[in-house]
Amino acid sequence: MRPRRQDHRSRPAVPGTAARLNSASALTRRSFLTLGTSALALGVCGRAAAASPGVPFGAAIQSDHFDDETYRQLFLDHCDMIVPMNELKFGLLQWERGEFDFTRADMLVDFARENGRTSRGHTFVWHSTNPPWLETITDAREGEAVLVEHIERVADHFRGRLTEWDVVNEVISNDPTRDASGALRDTVWTRLLGPRHIPIAFQAAARADPGAALVVNDYGLEPEGEVAEAKRRVMLDLVRQLQDANIRVDAVGLQAHLYAHFRVDVEGLGRFKEELERLGVGLTITELDVIDFQIHGGSRRQDRAAARVVSDLLDAVLAGPPPRALVTWGITDRHSWVDGSMPHADGTPSRPLPLDANDQPKAWYLDLRRRLTSAD
Ligand code: G3I
Repeated sequence: MRPRRQDHRSRPAVPGTAARLNSASALTRRSFLTLGTSALALGVCGRAAAASPGVPFGAAIQSDHFDDETYRQLFLDHCDMIVPMNELKFGLLQWERGEFDFTRADMLVDFARENGRTSRGHTFVWHSTNPPWLETITDAREGEAVLVEHIERVADHFRGRLTEWDVVNEVISNDPTRDASGALRDTVWTRLLGPRHIPIAFQAAARADPGAALVVNDYGLEPEGEVAEAKRRVMLDLVRQLQDANIRVDAVGLQAHLYAHFRVDVEGLGRFKEELERLGVGLTITELDVIDFQIHGGSRRQDRAAARVVSDLLDAVLAGPPPRALVTWGITDRHSWVDGSMPHADGTPSRPLPLDANDQPKAWYLDLRRRLTSAD
């Protein structure tokens, strides 16, 4: 494991980044410093213990299908890491204010542990899947107390059982080059607390689970084009600003919901990874799948297109030090969010995941496993 940098004060400023974060929701050095907190004790940056050699492979599991023994077995057959897809989200843990229900999340995390697998936590802060009561809060102090209490209670409950936490998810705006909210997405948390909800969340997580790696997770960082390039710049700026404020951030989570009709920016993503390495920050691929509604002509074409984008992603992320883990957002095409959200217009089933609807491995998945195994 590489040592993590502990003092970021000597890092030269990157020209232009501050100017890009110029909206009402911009991250400013001042917004972090107004926290009035001192340097935090740095926690352990642990790598997922892997049952197989190389980069640990994981997949997201859903409690909705947990009664299906065949489904459960797929995770044991294929995964080093088993990740609750939805059960650790705010609204699923604290639907009623102050009443925490860990039943479903515990079931999945314990299933992983009892079978010698690891798990990672997704997620404390997100704009989606929040309980209605959260949206009614208008007082900043009350909002901060709710945020800190939620993170402390949840991180404490799972302490020692999760290798990583997505502390914040999708805080970068959908299109930082155009969105009115600027660099950051307009959410319940920015409306209540502004950009400082991010360092507040990281500090609470670091206090509550010093052993878990703390991750900033986002989507749309992989493709070619100016929007993804802007998102990568904002992500790097966010990481630097957290480090400048002596706030621990261990890794960036690359969701990698890849569109089969887009190209992965192998060079741009490679440069992004190198910059993270210079900052002493790791990379986890957190939600890989392939969105193929624009690929017509049958399953072989869909799988060929998927193989190309996945291979390009691997070219970028396996160059240099290996990522901490690679997680797919589900394991079998029988259960994926993709057909619900981005279906083929003619009803053709999507093929987003490692195993097809008959639970048979696709060629791109076998290739991915070979490359992960030899990537250490
Ligand atoms: O659990 C209930 C079930 O009891 C009920 O029968 C069923 C009826 O519709 O709904 C089930 O809940 C659904 C849940 O997924 C579990 O399947 C929710 O309605 C649905 O909104 C929820 O969607 C999830 C979505 O995040 C919102 O939380 C998707 O499964 C999940 O794949 C998706 O994951 C997100 C990541 O968290 C962040 N990145 C993007 C990714 C894809 O959108």
